[in-house]
Amino acid sequence: MKKLNTSLLFLAAWLLLFSCAEKAQQREIQRGLIAEKAMVVSAREEASKIGIEIIQKGGNAFDAMMATEMALAVTYPFAGNLGGGGFMVYRMADGTVGSIDYREKAPLAAHKDMFLDENGEFVPQLSQQSALASGVPGTIAGIFEAQEKFGKLTPAEILQPVIQLAQKGFVVTENQAQRFQRLRQVATEVNGPETFFNREINAGDTLKIPVLAATLERIAKNGRDEFYKGETAKILAKHMQEKGGIITEEDLASYQAAWRDPIVFPYRGYKVISMAPPSSGGMTLAQIMKMIEPFELSKLGHHSPEYIQVLVEAERRAYADRNFYLGDPDFIEIPVDQLLDEAYLKSRMESFSMEKATLSSDISEGKIVFSESMETTHYSIVDADGNAVSVTTTLNGGYGSKLYIDELGFFMNNEMDDFSAKPGIPNMFGLIGAEANSIAPGKRMLSSMTPTIVEKDGKLWMVVGTPGGSTIITSVLQTILNVIEFDMGMQEAVNAPRFHHQWLPDLINFEPDSFDTTLIQTLKSRGYLINEGNSPVIGKVDAILVLPDGKLEGGADRRGDDKAVGF
Ligand code: GLY
Repeated sequence: MKKLNTSLLFLAAWLLLFSCAEKAQQREIQRGLIAEKAMVVSAREEASKIGIEIIQKGGNAFDAMMATEMALAVTYPFAGNLGGGGFMVYRMADGTVGSIDYREKAPLAAHKDMFLDENGEFVPQLSQQSALASGVPGTIAGIFEAQEKFGKLTPAEILQPVIQLAQKGFVVTENQAQRFQRLRQVATEVNGPETFFNREINAGDTLKIPVLAATLERIAKNGRDEFYKGETAKILAKHMQEKGGIITEEDLASYQAAWRDPIVFPYRGYKVISMAPPSSGGMTLAQIMKMIEPFELSKLGHHSPEYIQVLVEAERRAYADRNFYLGDPDFIEIPVDQLLDEAYLKSRMESFSMEKATLSSDISEGKIVFSESMETTHYSIVDADGNAVSVTTTLNGGYGSKLYIDELGFFMNNEMDDFSAKPGIPNMFGLIGAEANSIAPGKRMLSSMTPTIVEKDGKLWMVVGTPGGSTIITSVLQTILNVIEFDMGMQEAVNAPRFHHQWLPDLINFEPDSFDTTLIQTLKSRGYLINEGNSPVIGKVDAILVLPDGKLEGGADRRGDDKAVGF
């Protein structure tokens, strides 16, 4: 009898082992593009290709950054830009890390109440679609600063293929044609009937932008000062003033990008390196990841109600802090150490129970949130030496303020809308602004951009980021967790459906048609408020994963025309 029991036990153990092995085999990872040495993943194939070609010519990640950023300005004017700004986080092959802030600044003539009418009421049109909506652009300063410090080629060599791209044109995609069609009327209203984008542009057309090619040629010849002090600066300032704006030549001449120490924190043996303020990305990502770290997420199961609850409750608490405490560190004191203190973050989650949702109104007084739009773009680069850059750049709204400088060939941002124009009053997204992020001359508006790099065992492991306004942070979070906690490949992790909570409004947004109804019902029964209506696409992640054999896997988001290119 005893012998029989032992045999049965042995059989059961063997069957269990067999079924586990079978499961592991069944879950064969669907990989994205694999490359041996270097990779660029961006919102457009042409931009990824140009970045890779620069690396093949002997350039490094910082040279490729300049090329990719400018190629996006040509082929993806929806968010790629000369008239906007961004953030870049880097990790050199030797493990040193850093970041550059080339966020736009409020012009020197800006003032706190500039978007209020005579009755003190907020006028959204002014901060979103007028010449006053633009901050002083930082993109050219950012890419030149980074390239000058770390790059290997000359700006003229790097910009040459981009100039050719603008001259010879690029093929318009289906998605892009639809956006250009929607743009046409408003671009004409803002810029007049002669404006470049008052034309029919169809999918498959080749679009050439010769004026932008000429601007890039001058920048290639004269360097970053062409944009900030040269002919380009003069045209830009004159145009803005003619349109009722306040950006002057002095604003442009005094603009500087800023090197900043990134936010660096451990998560379950990994090291996460992300953007510091004036982006809220790194701080908020760190707060969320430290709050969820004690939970065994992989055991809860991917997209189980409990997994979603843990993330949502941490997000709710982190966004409440973000909206109250964060702004431009050159203007306000941010209690970074206190906000990232482990004991503080543990205490924040003490009020959470799996039984019932916490109400956002119970988390804090709930007076402060702020605005970003969904239209931004991200690219990730790893070069042949193992240097990595993670870059997110934006005009804020799609095509920014829609103000197109026809003499220069680019759109101006509407980043001033990322300030809180009037504390306590909702902006175009129904969000409310904070005093810490109020407008002041020369101040940078708060951002959610979260360009991030992750290390494993002291080595480069992931380069990741996304557009998506306030959903940027939660999209980056879920992509990282998909790989760390649920063993997904890079492309799989990028493809997986996403959800989002940001404290206020007190709603979980789910990507449409991606989550099952039983899950939604369970969450509702536990007191969660769900946005089942017109949920947007959440994030458009472009990322690179270093595989155990050292090869690179690209994750180019299926939600757009994004593309990984490598060799
Ligand atoms: N304008 C989008 C952001 O900075 O997050």
